[in-house]
Amino acid sequence: MARIRIELGPSSYEIVVENGLLEHVGEQIEGVCRGRQAIVITEPRVADLYLSTVTQSLASAGLQVSSAEVPGGEACKTLDTAVRLYDRLLDARLDRTGIVIALGGGVVGDVAGFVAATYLRGVDFVQVPTTLLAQVDASIGGKVGVDLPRGKNLVGAFHQPKRVLTDPEVLASLPRREFVSGLAELVKHGIIADRKLFEFVRSHSAALLALDQEALEAAIARSCRIKAGVVSRDEKESGLRAILNFGHTVGHGVEAAAGFGSLAHGEAVSIGMVTAALISAEKGLADEGAAFEIAETLSSLGLPVAPDSGLDTEAVLAAMAHDKKIAFGRARFVLLRRIGDVEIVDDVAQDEVRSALDAQRRLFGEWAGCAPS
Ligand SMILES: NC(=O)c1ccc[n+]([C@@H]2O[C@H](COP(=O)([O-])OP(=O)(O)OC[C@H]3O[C@@H](n4cnc5c(N)ncnc54)[C@H](O)[C@@H]3O)[C@@H](O)[C@H]2O)c1
Ligand SMILES: [Zn+2]
Repeated sequence: MARIRIELGPSSYEIVVENGLLEHVGEQIEGVCRGRQAIVITEPRVADLYLSTVTQSLASAGLQVSSAEVPGGEACKTLDTAVRLYDRLLDARLDRTGIVIALGGGVVGDVAGFVAATYLRGVDFVQVPTTLLAQVDASIGGKVGVDLPRGKNLVGAFHQPKRVLTDPEVLASLPRREFVSGLAELVKHGIIADRKLFEFVRSHSAALLALDQEALEAAIARSCRIKAGVVSRDEKESGLRAILNFGHTVGHGVEAAAGFGSLAHGEAVSIGMVTAALISAEKGLADEGAAFEIAETLSSLGLPVAPDSGLDTEAVLAAMAHDKKIAFGRARFVLLRRIGDVEIVDDVAQDEVRSALDAQRRLFGEWAGCAPS
């Protein structure tokens, strides 16, 4: 079991990572939340598998429990869904001491967290993440929100959970592609701040892909520790937190140019991380060998490391120019110094991205990135 503390003054909290933790959700929130009434927000697929375990655990701890479901999928991360959830909370007569528990992936966590941040001006919130992406990334750091028709995550808040309860065992039911895609964010944490995590993943790739519980718990805990450390130092993303976007500038461009949904987010980030490593090498910041090490590791996990030959470089660059994070300010790039150490720069020219993408296709275009099943 690992306990990781996020230091944020009065909003500090713990992430607990332990196999089998789902059965102990009730006891885990005792003493952390003052209320006695909880509502579990989840989605049908996760509800079928895990809702009864969680509600039983909460009831055994003496809490009054109800649940509400959202349809699931990015398409339900909307203000409409939030309005429906407010109704469910009112029907359940949840008051200011009520506890909202998000049981699901990043979609459920983001929308349930947004509801918890805004219902009655904010109630207690607990995250029980069930995808690898949510366990190592989305459940940590308090960013909650919904999409608007004009773009993703355009409305939201910072609302830190009271606790994050992570049970790696639930990943056994996750679709393979979702799991592998989540590994990209885990590797990202190694690249930006923890060479040992990166090496652990490299030497344990087979165990991780085989869902070896011990390897998985260790890698997830270590990855959570990195994000927790970054968030503790920069809660509202005024500076350092941007390093978490390593691989995302090009990644978002690739994701959009391929057509949303055709590449999983982590697959696009995997490609973007290799591009960022190559730009770093071109600028003389990092050794080219680092890009090879990164590509090798990602590829051994079944992740793609170069854009598909059908994907036009100019389309990627055009999509990057439309990215909201770039459109609202200068393009900030997270570049590599060495594995475990990055820096933020804002002087990457479009031509440098173009030539890195060309080099990437040349060097890694033939490397297969299909996830072993
Ligand atoms: N708040 C943040 O800091 C932050 C960070 C990164 C991403 N996000 C958000 O997270 C969202 C993506 O999250 P995601 O990748 O978890 O997607 P998701 O929540 O849509 O879950 C992916 C799929 O897995 C299924 N699923 C979830 N847990 C399962 C389990 N244990 N077994 C079987 N199936 C399961 C879901 O039904 C869904 O089909 C995006 O909306 C993104 O914007 C937020
Ligand atoms: Zn990401």
